[in-house]
Amino acid sequence: MKLLVTGAAGFIGSAVARLAVARGHTVISLDALTYAGCLDNLASLDGNPQHVFERADIRDRAALDRILAAHRPDAVMHLAAESHVDRSIDGPGTFIDTNVGGTFTLLEASRAYWQAQGRPDSFRFHHVSTDEVYGTLGQTGRFSEDTPYAPRSPYAASKAASDHLVRAWHETYGLPVVLSNCSNNYGPFQFPEKLVPVVILNALAGLPIPVYGQGLNVRDWLFVEDHAEALLLVLQRGRTGRSYNIGGEAEARNIDLVQRLCAILDRKRPGARPFADQITHVQDRAGHDLRYAIDPARVRDELGWRPACTLDEGLERTVQWYLDNTGWWRALQGRAGVGQRLGTGGQG
Ligand SMILES: NC(=O)c1ccc[n+]([C@@H]2O[C@H](COP(=O)([O-])OP(=O)(O)OC[C@H]3O[C@@H](n4cnc5c(N)ncnc54)[C@H](O)[C@@H]3O)[C@@H](O)[C@H]2O)c1
Repeated sequence: MKLLVTGAAGFIGSAVARLAVARGHTVISLDALTYAGCLDNLASLDGNPQHVFERADIRDRAALDRILAAHRPDAVMHLAAESHVDRSIDGPGTFIDTNVGGTFTLLEASRAYWQAQGRPDSFRFHHVSTDEVYGTLGQTGRFSEDTPYAPRSPYAASKAASDHLVRAWHETYGLPVVLSNCSNNYGPFQFPEKLVPVVILNALAGLPIPVYGQGLNVRDWLFVEDHAEALLLVLQRGRTGRSYNIGGEAEARNIDLVQRLCAILDRKRPGARPFADQITHVQDRAGHDLRYAIDPARVRDELGWRPACTLDEGLERTVQWYLDNTGWWRALQGRAGVGQRLGTGGQG
């Protein structure tokens, strides 16, 4: 297939692009290269005839029309987004512009392209979304595809809104869409403002390792390459109009995840004191959701997907990747906001 992947210079988008090319697909990587985008994430595809990069903004209709007409993709996989909850607390406007307005513009460009092609049933618009649209869980229960939407951060609300747009474009115009809502990802190439890289890089730098509040918030962690596998499966075999929840069934409290990362670092980079001594509890995030957990029954039973990587294996691989790729993350540490506490502008 020929895939147009938006947000392909980001963390998950680049994993999708790499996997899709490895599986024999042709990929047009589209990215605006915001602060979170990094062409190095696609360096392994340089010179590959199955891959082309297009710098464009999903809010730019003329650019989208040009790219769709020039490359004539069979599917659009939409991952471009503002993705950091803390930044959405400080500056929600960009999240509405990109995640809601950008998705609207991309849907309209995709609809025009699909109609010009004669409305082929085989076309797919795949919207890649998050479990954060469901809000927060208590100590029990899991999110299914029927869980009502109840987003609680500007980021989650903007993703919920974009999910609604995608469903409406299917119901109203017949655009063949699929959606997926995934739990927290971690792995190679994750931008150094997200929890797992922050822990690794602060530990190595001898800096405080920040844990929000008591660290009791629970997330369901998934290795990014398992997510990329699931996305290709949903794209190719998912039922039109349907959404699929994707999760690793690997719940961990933040404080326990941080301790596990410190223990891996202690083994790989033994020092005079355990890295866990650097853990520092800081002011909690406003509206910090207590717990997310995904029930992946649909993607497992309908599509046969299961994560290949356990949390222990994935964390081990991730720590090793950051140790082996210091040049990659050092180059990003000078970008705006990286290494600073963000998201204190809420009521928390
Ligand atoms: N990271 C997670 O744990 C997670 C979990 C579930 C779903 N998601 C979703 O997956 C997608 C990718 O997340 P990620 O973690 O890779 O994010 P990321 O921040 O690493 O990458 C986002 C990419 O989108 C690009 N981008 C931003 N605005 C753009 C615009 N207006 N036009 C074109 N490109 C633009 C950025 O340059 C960047 O390369 C997002 O839609 C996110 O909501 C992420």
